[in-house]
Amino acid sequence: MKVLITGAGGFVGQILAKKLISTSTATSLILADVTAPPNPTSSQDVQCIAADLTDASAAEKLISREPDAVYILHGIMSSGSEANLELGLKVNFDSVRQLLDIIRVQRPGIKVVFTSSCAVFGRKAVESTATETDIVPMPESSYGTQKLMIECLINDYSRRGLIDGRIVRLPTVFVRAGAPTAAASSFVSGIVREPVHGTASELPVDPSIGIWLTSPRALAANLVHAIKAPAEGFGHYRQVLLPGYTATSGEILDALEKVAGKEVRALVREKRDETVQRIVLSWPAGYDTSRAKELGFEEDVGLEQTIRDFVEGEKKAS
Ligand SMILES: NC(=O)c1ccc[n+]([C@@H]2O[C@H](COP(=O)([O-])OP(=O)(O)OC[C@H]3O[C@@H](n4cnc5c(N)ncnc54)[C@H](O)[C@@H]3O)[C@@H](O)[C@H]2O)c1
Repeated sequence: MKVLITGAGGFVGQILAKKLISTSTATSLILADVTAPPNPTSSQDVQCIAADLTDASAAEKLISREPDAVYILHGIMSSGSEANLELGLKVNFDSVRQLLDIIRVQRPGIKVVFTSSCAVFGRKAVESTATETDIVPMPESSYGTQKLMIECLINDYSRRGLIDGRIVRLPTVFVRAGAPTAAASSFVSGIVREPVHGTASELPVDPSIGIWLTSPRALAANLVHAIKAPAEGFGHYRQVLLPGYTATSGEILDALEKVAGKEVRALVREKRDETVQRIVLSWPAGYDTSRAKELGFEEDVGLEQTIRDFVEGEKKAS
């Protein structure tokens, strides 16, 4: 299967590319991003292409490479699209709609996986354990609004048989290697990643606030499963909440201390940022992921194992 990943230079795109090749799910890959992304695999059958997807001709050229499945990962993250409405709309909505329209005309019926977010829910979901269907999504950010609008389009195009859409709502990915991002949740990885590298880090929210997380390991496996799961399982709505687990920042720091020691934990200090705290409080901390289980998605490995994976991965990389 030839698979295209947009936004492939990003964190999720890189771990997904590796997993698609290591599980032999993809025989060849097209990795696209604003600048040509690195090839994170040892496979020669990987094309790394520079394509700004706000440009229709760049999107058409990509789809003319005839992928059998597309992962739409490119985007402007939550703080970035809150700070710049025009840019968020242009990338997260306009360019994705344009890409979907090119796919439905040039490659009708192929599988399209879209990475959405729990930011579609809004405050209502904070009061209960959310599922895909029991809460009317009322996003409280431009990012969540743009994601939700694309979800609606993918459901409609799938209903019409124009594409075979699969929408996965991701928990916050933790621990994320690399640089901090423009996501409001960036600190969650920062309070582990930076101290493990011997650098100080700030915790901007109350340590007792719970956050819904997924490990890179489980996420990569579940994204691969998203193109393997049978279309019938998804039914007339294509959204699925991916499995994850809830942890507070306090629990994360306790687990960090257990895995990496007291000195490492001591590099994190509390410095409240009311804007970040307000955004984080509008995200539900717990979800009912029984639909994901029914569709064969796998459970997460949990907090301590995730931190161990990260520490070992960084040791190997250094
Ligand atoms: N990481 C998370 O915690 C998380 C949580 C929920 C949802 N998601 C979603 O998963 C997807 C991947 O997330 P990520 O963490 O890898 O993000 P990321 O920011 O690391 O990567 C996004 C990539 O999109 C690219 N991009 C931006 N504008 C583009 C354009 N005009 N044309 C082509 N490429 C463009 C960027 O260059 C970047 O490499 C995103 O859609 C995100 O909304 C991520």
